[in-house]
Amino acid sequence: MNTVIVGAQWGDEGKGKIIDILTEKADYIVRYQGGNNAGHTVVVRGEKFIFHLIPSGILYPGKICLIGNGVVVDPRAFISEVEYLRGKGVKIDGNLLVSERAHIIFPYHRVLDNLREEKKDGTSLGTTRRGIGPCYADKITRVGFRLCDLLNAEYFARRLKDVLAEKNEILSKVYNFKGFEFDEIYDTYRDYAEKMKKYVCRCSGILNKAIEKGKNILFEGAQGTLLDIDYGTYPYVTSSNPVGGGACTGTGISPTKIDKIIGVAKAYTTRVGEGPFPTAFSSEHMRIVQSKGEEFGFTTGRARRCGWFDGVLARHSVLINGLEEIAVTKLDVLDELELIKICTAYKYKGKLVEDFPADLEILSGLEPVYEEHPGWKQDISNVSKYNNLPLNARKYLKRISELLGIKVSIVSVGSNREQTIFV
Ligand code: GDP
Ligand code: IMO
Ligand code: MG
Repeated sequence: MNTVIVGAQWGDEGKGKIIDILTEKADYIVRYQGGNNAGHTVVVRGEKFIFHLIPSGILYPGKICLIGNGVVVDPRAFISEVEYLRGKGVKIDGNLLVSERAHIIFPYHRVLDNLREEKKDGTSLGTTRRGIGPCYADKITRVGFRLCDLLNAEYFARRLKDVLAEKNEILSKVYNFKGFEFDEIYDTYRDYAEKMKKYVCRCSGILNKAIEKGKNILFEGAQGTLLDIDYGTYPYVTSSNPVGGGACTGTGISPTKIDKIIGVAKAYTTRVGEGPFPTAFSSEHMRIVQSKGEEFGFTTGRARRCGWFDGVLARHSVLINGLEEIAVTKLDVLDELELIKICTAYKYKGKLVEDFPADLEILSGLEPVYEEHPGWKQDISNVSKYNNLPLNARKYLKRISELLGIKVSIVSVGSNREQTIFV
C-alpha cells in the first residue's frame, strides 16, 4: 500500500503526528518536496521531536527514510538535524538516504531570500528565509546544483565559478550586498559532499524495487495545498508542489503506484506568513485558540494566525488531491468554545462564491458565509473511541465530512501518539 499524506490547509496541520501514527505499517517513509522550511512535530511519551528535513519515520527502528529529488536540501541543516536526532538517541545508520537528484541550497539562496523579505516596498511574503524559493528558482532556470553535482569535484568547481559570478553581480548591483568568495563556498560544499556521501541514493530505483516487492511506502508531504505553487494563494505560497501529485515528480514513482491520499486538516484553520485568510478570527478567539493550540511555529517562532474551519478551502484540497479521507487534528483545542463556526461558502461583492478563487483581489475581499455549531464544553483529550466523543463534537466532525464529501478517518485530540481516534 502506497499512501501520500498531504496538508489540506496552509501547513502545520499536524502532518508530523499523523505520519508518525501511520509509520508503524510502513517500510519506507519519503519526503517529496519542500526543504527545511517545514517543521513537523512528533511527541513520543512526552518527548518532543522537531523535524525539518528528515522524515519522522526515523524514530522507528527498521524503517528506511528517504529524502526525494523534489526536496531542496540545505546540507548545513541536514547535518545539524542528523546531530540533533543522534543527540536524542535516535539511531541513524543506513536508514537515511538522500536522492542524488535533490537540489542543494547555497548561502546565496538564503541571502537572496532574506534580502527580498527585507525590502520595504510591500512585496515581502513572510517566507521562512531558508532560501527555498531562490533554490527552486535556480532548479527551474537550470543553474542549480544537485547532490550528485557536489560529488563531482571538477564539474562542481567549473560550474560554481560561472554561477557564482552571476549571483555576485545580482547581489552587488541589485542589492548592494558584497557577495561570496568562490574558495569559501567551494571548500565548505566539498566538505558537505564528503559528509553526505554515505546518504546518497537513487530514490526512484529504490522505491520502484520496494514497490515490486510489495513493501509499504508512506509519502510525507510538507507545507499544505493552499501553499502549493500552482493551487495555493499565489504569490503567498511556497515554491514547490505539496499536493499529492508532487509525490510522483518528487520521488520518481508513477501516479499508477499511488493507492491512497490522506489529507490532514486542523479542526480550525491557521496560516503563518503573509497572504489572504478569509476565515481569520477576530481578536478574542485568536488569543484563545493561539494559546490553547500553541500556534507558534517551530521553524521561525512566529505566531500563526488562526480562524474558523474553512469548508471551501478544504473542498478545494479534496478536489486537487483526490482525497478520499481526512484526518482532523487538534479537535481538543476547541473544547472550551461556546459556539463554533464553519465556513460553507464565501460572498464576493454580494454574490455567492462556492469554489476557491485564484484572483488575489477576490481572495482578499471575500466574506465568509458561516453556519454555527454549539460547542461541547468538555475536555476530550483523553477520549480514545469515536463513540465516546461528546455528541456535539461528533456532529461537528459529521458536518465537516458532509461538506467535504469524504470520510473523517482519524481524529486527533492531543499531540501524543495515544491521543488518536481511528474512526
Ligand atoms: P505539521 O507541520 O503539519 O507537521 O504540524 P506542526 O508540527 O508544525 O504543528 C502541529 C502542532 O500541533 C505540533 O505542535 C503538534 O505537536 C501539535 N498537535 C498535533 N496534533 C494535535 C492535537 O490533536 N491536539 C493538540 N492539542 N496538538 C496537536
Ligand atoms: P510545514 O511542513 C506553514 C510558509 C511561510 C510563507 C510561505 C513561503 O511545517 O507545514 P517559504 O520559506 O516556503 O518560501 O515561505 O510558506 N510556509 C509554511 N507555513 N507550515 C510550513 O511547513 C511552511 N513552510 C513554508 O510561512 O508564508
Ligand atoms: Mg509545521
